[in-house]
Amino acid sequence: GAVAQTGRTTIPYGAAIRIDPMLEEPDYRKAVLDYCQVVVGEGGLKWIDLRPDRDSFVFDQPDRLLAFAEEHGLEMRGHTLAWYAAMPDWVETIASAEEARTELVRHIETVVGRYKGRISSWDVVNEPIADHPTREAPIRDSVWQRHLGKDYIELALRTTAKVNPDARLVINDFDFEQPTDKARARRKAFLDLIRELKARDVPLHAIGLQGHLQGEIAIDKSGLTAFVAELASMDLAIMVTELDIIDNLLPGPEIERDGIIAQRAKDFLDAIGAAKRPEAVLTWGISDRHTWVPIWFSRDDGMPNRPLPLDADFRPKPLMQVIQDFCAE
Ligand code: G3I
Repeated sequence: GAVAQTGRTTIPYGAAIRIDPMLEEPDYRKAVLDYCQVVVGEGGLKWIDLRPDRDSFVFDQPDRLLAFAEEHGLEMRGHTLAWYAAMPDWVETIASAEEARTELVRHIETVVGRYKGRISSWDVVNEPIADHPTREAPIRDSVWQRHLGKDYIELALRTTAKVNPDARLVINDFDFEQPTDKARARRKAFLDLIRELKARDVPLHAIGLQGHLQGEIAIDKSGLTAFVAELASMDLAIMVTELDIIDNLLPGPEIERDGIIAQRAKDFLDAIGAAKRPEAVLTWGISDRHTWVPIWFSRDDGMPNRPLPLDADFRPKPLMQVIQDFCAE
């Protein structure tokens, strides 16, 4: 059936945007305006986009997205200030803890300061937990971790709060929802990190659960609910920040796949909602026409990936219905 394009749900829905195609393609633009209350740049605020060299900041991509958002009364989230990936080569010349601290602080002061009062929700730290965390090495390797250890997380949060005391500060991470030892280890390492930050009174308001779901794997609903309940008990809000369903290993015709994809998202959202109602739900893109998934997880059968709520022609799929129903409750 047709999906109501209400544009306004109780829980705000939004999507990651590729600014230039969105401005150029009328159907892309229309989809964003029909469905979204919040947007985030799929790129643009990453170091590789903002910082071609040590002394430059190139703001035109985020400036364009923010202008669009403000013109249409949409919120814009900021992604991201401290991440291991999408870094320009020059950061490898950072040679000491002192230098790393100076560069990270200067970056946050400049970027968060520029958008103060306009971007009020930041993925301050992205993906801090190691892929396979151990007791000895729970934190993912990055230029920040190498020079500053896990203190970079506290430094990034405190600096953002100082520059913009009204900003909503988010730590964003993924791979918590599978029924696997890896996901269990990641949940534990993440909770240890958050507990420590809380014990040290580090400013932090929300946890971003990215939700890059693996279509072939059922959601560990009880594990995810318990995890979210634990976070909520530390007085943290929850956001779903990057939902999509990686479908390279899902067999079957499109219509069956779309059903499974929608069901995975429903299980994920319901398991979170059973512990804490998220304050926003964002997908990582809105249409299968513009998605990172085929670059990393293309299908062997040559069929296109279908990870997102709208198909490549911007028609709603069952996944959109699931999201709208969840967000409307
Ligand atoms: O902009 C250039 C373009 O000029 C060039 O022609 C093209 C050729 O490869 O590359 C373009 O840049 C690409 C950029 O996306 C824009 O589409 C980069 O190569 C590519 O590495 C970059 O990938 C992005 C990736 O993060 C790294 O920044 C993906 O689009 C983006 O979806 C992905 O997003 C991440 C989140 O930030 C964090 N969580 C996981 C998520 C998915 O991997």
